[in-house]
Amino acid sequence: MRKSQQLSFLEESIALAIDEWTFNGASTRELTHCYHDYPARMIPQIAEKLIDLYGRGAKMLFDPYCGTGTSLVEGVIRGIDVIGTDINPLAGMIAQAKTSLPDFFVLDNSIRHFNDFVFRSQPIKLEKPPFIPGISKIEFWFKSQVIEKLLRLKIFIDTLEDDEVRLFFKIAFSETVRESSNTRNDEFKLYRYGPEKLRLFNPNVFSMMSLKLKRNRLGLERFAELMSQFKDFPTAKIYGFNTVEGIPEEYIKKNSIDIVVTSPPYGDSHTTVAYGQYSRLSAAWLGLEEPEGVDRKLMGGKLQKKIPRLPSKHLVETIESISQKDSKRALEVASFYHELHQSVTNIAQVIKPGGFACYVVGNRKVKGTVLPTDVAIMDFFSALGYEHVDTHHRIIPNKRMPLRNSPTNATGVLEETMTREYIVIMRRKRMGVVSEKKSIYYASSKRKKSKLRKKKVVKRKTKRQKR
Ligand SMILES: C[S@@+](CC[C@H](N)C(=O)[O-])C[C@H]1O[C@@H](n2cnc3c(N)ncnc32)[C@H](O)[C@@H]1O
Repeated sequence: MRKSQQLSFLEESIALAIDEWTFNGASTRELTHCYHDYPARMIPQIAEKLIDLYGRGAKMLFDPYCGTGTSLVEGVIRGIDVIGTDINPLAGMIAQAKTSLPDFFVLDNSIRHFNDFVFRSQPIKLEKPPFIPGISKIEFWFKSQVIEKLLRLKIFIDTLEDDEVRLFFKIAFSETVRESSNTRNDEFKLYRYGPEKLRLFNPNVFSMMSLKLKRNRLGLERFAELMSQFKDFPTAKIYGFNTVEGIPEEYIKKNSIDIVVTSPPYGDSHTTVAYGQYSRLSAAWLGLEEPEGVDRKLMGGKLQKKIPRLPSKHLVETIESISQKDSKRALEVASFYHELHQSVTNIAQVIKPGGFACYVVGNRKVKGTVLPTDVAIMDFFSALGYEHVDTHHRIIPNKRMPLRNSPTNATGVLEETMTREYIVIMRRKRMGVVSEKKSIYYASSKRKKSKLRKKKVVKRKTKRQKR
């Protein structure tokens, strides 16, 4: 084979390997995955493939940045108990709904009541705009006819007695709030429509909600069909703890997780995806905790005083090169990776020896420099007694991501964001014990081995001495 032929064969194999994980044109809204839009959602096909490849026989799956729960849904339909956490309360609520099975009789009755209610309920006379904690200028974000209808929907939802049915309605309501608001729908951040679009914008709130209930009911039916194969339903527990700070033992025991399937944020929400802004209006209407404070709490939201130490040579060199151009930006970037590293350190301890960590990550550009998050994840886990199994590549075909972002935070200064994702697979060594002391990592298997070696030497010596 000639060199050029060899090269094209290699190129073709790479393209095929990328294709395998790209899932171009696949439907990503089957089952309860249809419930609610969300920024940078993982596509179900990736979670499915990861569980099939690395989670055979798994009993417990964990997603530490579960968002709307894509990997959790894929876990439960395979009979695996799942645990998720996300510090965006709206995301947690959606994940909870997507893994719940409300009683169909009660649900269908409630949908019927809802349709009656929509036709019969009388408009509420509002003397002044209502106060919704978390939305300071309600009339800026919603037209008054929309506010009045949303209020009526909220009153109806509050009358529903069954917790799971009420949750089902709240999720449809949440998307209705976002879509009937004056926010541009093609943006995750809160940007108001321009005057011309706003003048013509007259959403039909009730039919929006009604269509969402119908769509979600269909998705739920398919989900229920799959779940009916299990005598004992797998459990889904969704929390709001922050793995950067630790993992509460009462929720997840050390060495208890078979597989982690997750997609962490690409960077801080200020310069990448603003999950908090996306969720703010719905979260406020739903009465969730501190809707305006979410983005600050998310990974990378807290600036470190100085560039922290990180166990990844490639990442550290990249941050140094950014620092030469802009030291403040380098500190912001390093603060994000510091938290990601702390989170990995905690997650590494709850995975069983032999268990897998599957991270779907993107390598974004800052100041023209690509940040090697895939390598960083590999290095962080490797320093904690994990081995690298594989890194799969995929092209992001239609993920609604800002294709350009503003990394300098200056209007008009735009930079391409990534269109490729990396799926990094790490496996905890069977003998590896994860422990950290002042950012020095010990794989105690090595220590054990050296102790064993010492013992052998002592034995040999004593034999020789005897001779
Ligand atoms: C890429 S999204 C995950 C999307 C999810 N896989 C899905 O399919 O919907 C990343 C998530 O990480 C969450 N997040 C950011 N920082 C976090 C932290 N410190 N702890 C837990 N979740 C965090 C965000 O709220 C966001 O929902």
